[in-house]
Amino acid sequence: MQTTNNLDSKMEQSKGRRLILCPLPFQGHINPMLELANILHAKGFSIAIIHTNFNTLNPSTRNPNFTYHSIPVDLTETEASTKDLTVVLSILNAKCVEPFRECLAELLSDGINSEYPIACLISDPLFNFTRSVAESFKLPTIILRTGCAASFAVYITFPLLKKKRLLTNTGSRLEEPVIELSPIKARDLPTMPNCDAEDLYQLITNMVNESKASYGLIFNTFEDLEGHALATIRQEYHPNIPIFPLGPFHKCGPTTSSSSSSLLAQDQSCISWLNAQAPKSVVYVSFGSMAKIDQAQFLEIAWGLANSGQPFLWVVRPGLVQGSDWLETLPDRFLKALNKRAHVVKWAPQKEVLAHPAIGAFWTHCGWNSTLEGICEGVPMICTPCFGDQMVNARYVSDVWKVGMQLEHGIERGEVERTIRRLMVEEEGEEIKDRALKLMEAANLCHKEGGSSCQFLDGLVQYALSL
Ligand code: UDX
Repeated sequence: MQTTNNLDSKMEQSKGRRLILCPLPFQGHINPMLELANILHAKGFSIAIIHTNFNTLNPSTRNPNFTYHSIPVDLTETEASTKDLTVVLSILNAKCVEPFRECLAELLSDGINSEYPIACLISDPLFNFTRSVAESFKLPTIILRTGCAASFAVYITFPLLKKKRLLTNTGSRLEEPVIELSPIKARDLPTMPNCDAEDLYQLITNMVNESKASYGLIFNTFEDLEGHALATIRQEYHPNIPIFPLGPFHKCGPTTSSSSSSLLAQDQSCISWLNAQAPKSVVYVSFGSMAKIDQAQFLEIAWGLANSGQPFLWVVRPGLVQGSDWLETLPDRFLKALNKRAHVVKWAPQKEVLAHPAIGAFWTHCGWNSTLEGICEGVPMICTPCFGDQMVNARYVSDVWKVGMQLEHGIERGEVERTIRRLMVEEEGEEIKDRALKLMEAANLCHKEGGSSCQFLDGLVQYALSL
């Protein structure tokens, strides 16, 4: 382990270096990238953020210590609202490449005479052009993969899964275990709504190839949580590409509200409502920034929650329910009849909510940020994965870490009500709650001196300075 003097001198060296970070412009990717920026800034690096004017970062919540460089991408309204995410990503990739090249050239030419020479680019592998552009300027790229290691281990197995015909037409084989990826079942393999299976395969292959061609791979996870999946990835990548599991990011860096990276305004009324609720009594429900449900599912959720008897805080993001603006499909007086047992908002201060003592369960879509945020606060989860990596995350929550339950048969009010009661009221939930608290302790220990994420962070600092 390093001595304090050693670390101080590393910090002194990093003070002379600059890092450029380039987040993919979606909430679930922006949050971890900016959290990582905070962590590296605290280690002495100067930080430049290249971001797009699509889903642009809110100027009032930007970190005053960073420089921000916006690149223009003219997505038409039709392009931006395309339902197939692989198409949106391919348009973004095509339209960002030249503005990114110009922006990087400018930053590098400014950097030549600057007191802060640029050490490397840290980018998202779904931006599939950033590494090769940086390489053309001889600038090394380290990749931040914002999902968990287990889902990445699934992605690197894609060629084999394709060969075994597990990526398409799995209809009758949904419950089949994928032997190489236990306890993953065929039904847990990544899918995307409204998207062609071959396009998804290509997107994932590109993402894996980008990370394999990079100088290193950072994950927002920690060894005690995902040691097995990390070992699988290391085996595939070793020894050329170092792997840095530095998470959970939001429990490491200085977390001030000024560095909040929320694209939507967070409704603070959640906190005063939670203050009036009994400890561990509230079900917090949120399906993240991208998932969509239909109107029938929306009503099943509403009735399931109401019938559970528990108070609930429900994030209904505008756009969550297909074909409706917000709450208009709820029956008349539905919320009034619940008499303050329900609080519904468009967007919540999620990390604060999950840390609130009134929260007793988190019904989540299992986006990786939400999953990790739930783990960090020891909140047991109910899982309704919707697409992409979420099914793998949910399987790990229910079957590996055993800190939650899945709604295995879709969203139906009776099952919702039963699952909430099983988790929050009945004895069955007790063991899950105990495990969730233990996992929370592990998540908080890994950043302490000598903890795995703390050590990997020092390793990353040294590595970035050596590039
Ligand atoms: C997307 C994909 O859906 C997910 O599978 C992938 O792992 C990352 O990208 P998203 O739907 O945005 O993620 O979910 P998630 O990863 O959970 O990120 C959502 C972020 O928004 C979290 O950091 C959460 O704290 C924040 N959030 C969510 C809020 O601040 N307020 C809310 O009301 C809801």
